[in-house]
Amino acid sequence: MISVKGLSPDGELILAPMAGYTDMVFRAIARRHGAALTMTELISAEGIVRNNKKTRKLMEFTDSERPLGIQIFGNSPGVMGEAARAVESLGPDFIDINLGCCSQKICSGGMGAALLKDPPALGRIVESVVRATSLPVSAKIRIGWDFSSRNYRDVVSALEDAGVDFISVHGRTRSQMYSGRADWDIIAEIARSFRLPIVGNGDIISHNEALSRLAESGCAAVMVGRGAVGNPWIFSGGIPSFSEVAGQVKEHMEAMIGRYGEYGIILMRKHLVKYIHGFHNAAKARTALLRSTEKEEIEAILDGLVEMDGANKV
Ligand SMILES: Cc1cc2nc3c(=O)[nH]c(=O)nc-3n(C[C@H](O)[C@H](O)[C@H](O)COP(=O)(O)O)c2cc1C
Repeated sequence: MISVKGLSPDGELILAPMAGYTDMVFRAIARRHGAALTMTELISAEGIVRNNKKTRKLMEFTDSERPLGIQIFGNSPGVMGEAARAVESLGPDFIDINLGCCSQKICSGGMGAALLKDPPALGRIVESVVRATSLPVSAKIRIGWDFSSRNYRDVVSALEDAGVDFISVHGRTRSQMYSGRADWDIIAEIARSFRLPIVGNGDIISHNEALSRLAESGCAAVMVGRGAVGNPWIFSGGIPSFSEVAGQVKEHMEAMIGRYGEYGIILMRKHLVKYIHGFHNAAKARTALLRSTEKEEIEAILDGLVEMDGANKV
């Protein structure tokens, strides 16, 4: 259980930040299904300081997503501190610092996971954020840059010294990107060796797996990313009927249209393909679902799928 500086989430399963997926619509859905905490995707500290319009949109949230963290990235202590002050004025429950993003664009700018290569520099950036805000501050890391430089002990020590309140650990190196398996032995070693609450992350695809990872690793909480897309029930452990899945899709799509207008239907597609996974006739319906730009047509295809599958459980 995480309990830091006025942040006491009501559970141990957290929605991982995922750019392009964990927008305000999906965060509210995950929270309603029992995610204990939610987080925005990574947001540029430079964009925040420049008051960029797109950046401001990424930071919008509603109370239904709380407790909510805004995740920021950057490599300048000054800009990160200034961004943290601006973020605090928006009223989130905590600020998370991205130290794990593996994308070429972010890393070549010396940000995200690239900072793992230089724990002292990383410490200065994080300390600047901690000093700038009275909110709890967390950091999300990978276990190192590559296999031969898995310096997670130095990184976690630097974060501890800088004053973070908890740390999320994705058990892969940057060079692994998303290949191989997350190393839960290392996650457990970190949880055992440090005083700070550790959130374990990587490859959890079911509610039971989340519970066993939590128990076996000794982490304060675990974080689920890809396994929650199309399956927010991963947080509650519920097993939805086909009609419940279809109902959830319709509600999700409605909220996407509310947030993004008709374009919400296009943005919904990546969720849709995951939601329908368990339907027996999913493969056949997939193409039609992904081609459609009409809400009513998509709803009719979903109703057809439910009818064919009867009232079975997924
Ligand atoms: C599409 C996608 C976008 C992601 N975006 C972010 C992000 O914005 N910030 C971040 O810290 N991690 C991001 N991640 C990493 C996830 O938070 C998580 O660490 C990773 O997916 C491993 O967990 P999982 O196996 O449960 O998905 C992203 C991952 C994916 C697949």
